Amino acid sequence: MRKGSLFSILLILTMGMMAACSNGVTSSKEKTEMIRQKAVHSNNILSTEKGDMIFTANMDINTVSITDVNKMKVLAEIPVGKEPVQLALSPDEKTLYVSCRYSGTVDLISVKDKKKIDTIQVGNEPFGLLTSQDGQKLYVAKFREDSVSVINLHDQKIVNEIKVGDRPRTLALTADGKKLYVPQYLEGTISVVDTKKEKVKKVIPLAESPDQSDRKKSQGIPNTLEQIVIAPDGKTAWVAHYLTNIDTPIHFEETVFPAISVIDLEKDKEIVDKRKELFAEINVTDKQNQTMIVSNPADIVFQSDGNKAYVVMSGSEDLVVFDLKRGGNAVQILRRIEGNNPRGAVISPDDQMIYVHNAMSHDIATIDTGGDSSYARVKNAGDNMKLIKKDPLSPLVREGKTIFYSANSEEFATDITGNNWMSCVSCHSDGELNGLTLTTPKGPRNLPSNVLTTETGLFMWDGSRDDFTDYLITVQTEMGGMMKYKQNEPLPKDVQHMYDAMFAFLKEPSSFPVPKSPYRENGKLSQVALEGKELFEGKGNCLSCHGGSMFTDSVKAVGKDHKLTTDRTDFLHDIGTASSLDQPSDGDGRAQFTNPRDGKSFDTPTLRGVWATAPYFHDGSAKTIEETIERHQYESAPNLTKGEIAKIAEYVRSIE
Ligand code: HEC
Ligand code: HEC
Repeated sequence: MRKGSLFSILLILTMGMMAACSNGVTSSKEKTEMIRQKAVHSNNILSTEKGDMIFTANMDINTVSITDVNKMKVLAEIPVGKEPVQLALSPDEKTLYVSCRYSGTVDLISVKDKKKIDTIQVGNEPFGLLTSQDGQKLYVAKFREDSVSVINLHDQKIVNEIKVGDRPRTLALTADGKKLYVPQYLEGTISVVDTKKEKVKKVIPLAESPDQSDRKKSQGIPNTLEQIVIAPDGKTAWVAHYLTNIDTPIHFEETVFPAISVIDLEKDKEIVDKRKELFAEINVTDKQNQTMIVSNPADIVFQSDGNKAYVVMSGSEDLVVFDLKRGGNAVQILRRIEGNNPRGAVISPDDQMIYVHNAMSHDIATIDTGGDSSYARVKNAGDNMKLIKKDPLSPLVREGKTIFYSANSEEFATDITGNNWMSCVSCHSDGELNGLTLTTPKGPRNLPSNVLTTETGLFMWDGSRDDFTDYLITVQTEMGGMMKYKQNEPLPKDVQHMYDAMFAFLKEPSSFPVPKSPYRENGKLSQVALEGKELFEGKGNCLSCHGGSMFTDSVKAVGKDHKLTTDRTDFLHDIGTASSLDQPSDGDGRAQFTNPRDGKSFDTPTLRGVWATAPYFHDGSAKTIEETIERHQYESAPNLTKGEIAKIAEYVRSIE
């Protein structure tokens, strides 16, 4: 039996509401208006209240699928804008709203007609979105604008921008509709928006998990905040995120840990001792009596009475079951959800089935919960259901993307990580950066974005890699995978193929569009930026290193065969940014130690999209573009006034 949900919607029939509207339109039409009375969150998968239909945002396919759950059949696959990431329903469930990240729009779909009916322009990279409980407003988190737009759904106009922190992503709304929770993706904080005042009333910081004398115990800075989900009793919310340990050298068992934090919604504070972490609350052992490692937590679903929670691990591809009636710890791990990259889930109203959306294989995995008893065991239930007709990505790009997002040690030609610990995405959050500076034997290293990474010459801050297979070093030393291969020998064909596939994914232009700069005016340089450009190219002499279409001279580091070579160090520059923490290196085995580095000279970074990648420099020591310019020291460096620096900085922030 369904518990509660049937009664959670209140139907109000309002007569002649339209007549009261401003522009004098009179209508005697009866309008059905529903006030939703349960908490909601936006997600990449949603189901109707009755549980008869499932909607999925097929992120890189640019479609939304509507699935009949009883028949397990896709009823429609509807083309929408670019990169549809999240979905929301109107309270009456007649309209589905889709945030299309790269087209900057929200598409409206009629659930009945299964057709796109409208498009709203909202701005730079819309992500999470929700309708208000009365269905009058739409809230849209804008990842690149640090704000939540409030849209009046009568005329589809943006009526307010609520300023929040850096990179708002997913959203959750309380049952009474009064509070909107907005996690900031990399900041590790959650803004609480008062929906009446349309203002942030509090910012909840997630606590750092303290250092442990045992480095293999969970610890670190909370970041990469994925879904936030309010528990059925409305008293707490769970948020899935990572913890990153930055103060010891990167090691697969010691650097990134999965976590679920619990927020008290009355006090709007984290309940720190309720956080779910590896080896403590998440300590389910395998047949060898070892703790099972899970990674990249992405989403949470609650049993309707709140007695159990199921957490989707998108990297290790597992489902972790928490028993909240008996202490709240993990009690079972379903090792491997069928399909690739489980990113979101919904539960049926009778709590019997969990449907998981796989973002790489584009299908739905069906999991039988076994019911609500404490002794129930979840298990995979039958074949996955395909959501799409055609994958627009080439098979090679899809394979590379799947590897990039995976921490499943048992997939592919060989293991990408040791014991399911890490995916590329564990650091390059959703394929970009995590805003942190990690410790390496060469010194502190600011985590770079993957945007344009294949187009900007040598890899790494010190330009010590020229071929993508050199990432074998990252996989071995940081991710604990592929340990059986020798760095100085060619890779077997099938392993080489994994690198070719990842490279194809990184190179594919649709994978990482350069973030659009908010410093432009209607896409064009502002007057100040134009003056800055003149200085950049003239007196500032920036072009001598940040030249060409990629704003770096690193692309010139090629040998006689026109291929990039780490032998060319004439395009590395010492601009006085090294500190005592930076160490010279003898090079690495992959390059037969022909790539030693002095620890002071760095590869010129691209400036395209640099407005979005703070902090700056190899060690993350500069917070602003102004500071980076002030700190460049080299012979013939021009003397720039504060005013000139400000203009150049404005231009640099406008480069896309
Ligand atoms: C433990 C965190 C971590 C993981 C996991 C990780 N990276 Fe990185 N990545 C970094 C850091 C830190 C750097 C900068 C290192 C340096 O310059 O010395 C980097 C640099 C890079 C760069 C170079 C960027 C440039 O233009 O110079 C690429 C490309 C890259 N990583 C791709 C990957 C891929 C592909 C994977 C998965 C196979 C991966 N990374 C896994 C932390 C990580
Ligand atoms: C002599 C070569 C050279 C010149 C000239 C130069 N840069 Fe740089 N720039 C670099 C190098 C090398 C780095 C990376 C230093 C590091 O990571 O420690 C860098 C880093 C930067 C960064 C930080 C990028 C990031 O992703 O962290 C910005 C912004 C920047 N430069 C802007 C400028 C501007 C503006 C000018 C002209 C006023 C300029 N640079 C002139 C070599 C140069």
